Amino acid sequence: MNQNLIEQFKSAGQGHVFAFWEQLTAAERTALLAQAGEVDLAETARLFQSLVASKASAGSSLDGLLPAPYEQLPEKGGDAASWAQARAAGEAALRTGRVAAFTVAGGQGTRLGYDGPKGTFVITPIKGKSLFQVFAEKIAAAGRRYGRPIHWFIMTSHANHEQTETFFVEQNYFGLDRARVHFFRQGRMPAVDFNGKILLETKSSLALSPDGHGGSLRALHRSGALDIMQREGVDVLSYFQVDNPLVRCIDPEFIGFHLLRGSEMSSKMVPKVGPEEKVGHFCLQQGRVCVVEYSDMPVAMQQLTNADGSLKFGSGSIAIHVIDREFARRMAGGGVGRVIPNAPKTPEPGGLGIIRPTTEVPALPFHRADKKIPTVDASGAPVKPEKPNGVKFELFVFDALPFANNSIVIETARADDFSPVKNATGVDSAQTCRDDQLRQIARWLKAAGTTVPVDATGLPALRIEVSPLFGYDAASFTEAWNRQAIKPEIKDGLYLE
Ligand code: UD1
Repeated sequence: MNQNLIEQFKSAGQGHVFAFWEQLTAAERTALLAQAGEVDLAETARLFQSLVASKASAGSSLDGLLPAPYEQLPEKGGDAASWAQARAAGEAALRTGRVAAFTVAGGQGTRLGYDGPKGTFVITPIKGKSLFQVFAEKIAAAGRRYGRPIHWFIMTSHANHEQTETFFVEQNYFGLDRARVHFFRQGRMPAVDFNGKILLETKSSLALSPDGHGGSLRALHRSGALDIMQREGVDVLSYFQVDNPLVRCIDPEFIGFHLLRGSEMSSKMVPKVGPEEKVGHFCLQQGRVCVVEYSDMPVAMQQLTNADGSLKFGSGSIAIHVIDREFARRMAGGGVGRVIPNAPKTPEPGGLGIIRPTTEVPALPFHRADKKIPTVDASGAPVKPEKPNGVKFELFVFDALPFANNSIVIETARADDFSPVKNATGVDSAQTCRDDQLRQIARWLKAAGTTVPVDATGLPALRIEVSPLFGYDAASFTEAWNRQAIKPEIKDGLYLE
């Protein structure tokens, strides 16, 4: 059996993976073999051929790209009646327990420079709650409001799975029913050098890395999460990233639009703050919604404007989706992650040329990322490369959009849905995110009839924190505030729960 696997690697030109076999302990050999068993050699070879050797790049077809239409917010001219209907439909779905929360938390958090699962990062201004705690309280609050506790699915990676679970145990699941919190690991992909050779991380381990958030669809399937949902009567997944504590984890209007329009995968947009903002763009290609990453859209195109001066491709993706359970199953079972060797140059009817499958089976494309990948040299000594020495392969969840029927995009207010923590300092850092949390509380207080002094950007001088269990939007905050017979004194350090 072992010999078999080693032979398979040898005949695929990957025999070097076992170059140090004779020096390894029995435990190291077992671990290396287990990792090797995870690798799909044929897939790795196809990926290398199609994405590296052929110099082609996935995600590069911009043919016939148009801005995607979206449902405008009522205050921006959208139809208030449609939003009200959507809210009612979303609330009805929540009352019948059809909705689960889904967080992708498998990323490495490299840019943040934080050592640990990103969800454990401390983010609230006074209580120092973690990202996970903020989500947990929002999910608990929605469960209470609609009378049905909400299941929460969390995708981790091999690198952070145990730490994530331990954190939840230590924090007593933030008071959630642990039977409703489900962790599962995403898959891994081997990194290869520019000659297609799988890189070793050490003498006894492969350079494996998470397969991207698009790997969530096949991981949901493989882990049995979709079956749990089916058993529990859940068919709507509210998807969000671990880096965004402002997110409305459970948004009845968004869920309602998704259901009323019969959409299989829906998305939220915000108008980009400027052409240089690093977010994906919602576009339409051959009548299908898709996202074109900032790195894939030429700068000149990002700068195009409409007659009124607004950006033509100004619809920014904030990576918040609602996904139909059976759509996720179809994408997963249908071969998510399969490579389309010779993607047609001209888009086929009904989809993005670059990712239309050549068969009937839907498939997400892999994207290539050139990286500095720690490895070993021929003698087994560690090497820390100064420039990219290899390629990692990743799947993006938004590449599923063109396969979704009736996919819709709705607008959301950035200030109430999006303030990600990506960098250690500067833009999208813990500081900007904490400031956005404070601005939100100042707006809620104002809506409830109590004004606090703010600067020109709406930032209050006082630090106030509100638990989502007290209020998680202006309306619920106002309700809770009005219920207080004796109003608390508004002062620095005030915490409402
Ligand atoms: C992402 C989107 C971008 C969007 C922006 C909004 C991509 C390629 N781009 O950018 O279109 O405008 O967010 O904030 O996604 N993750 C996993 N497993 C992985 C990789 C990532 O679970 O293998 C999770 C991370 O934990 C995180 C999220 O996916 O929650 C985003 O990943 P990241 O790589 O940081 O995306 P961005 O480049 O910031």
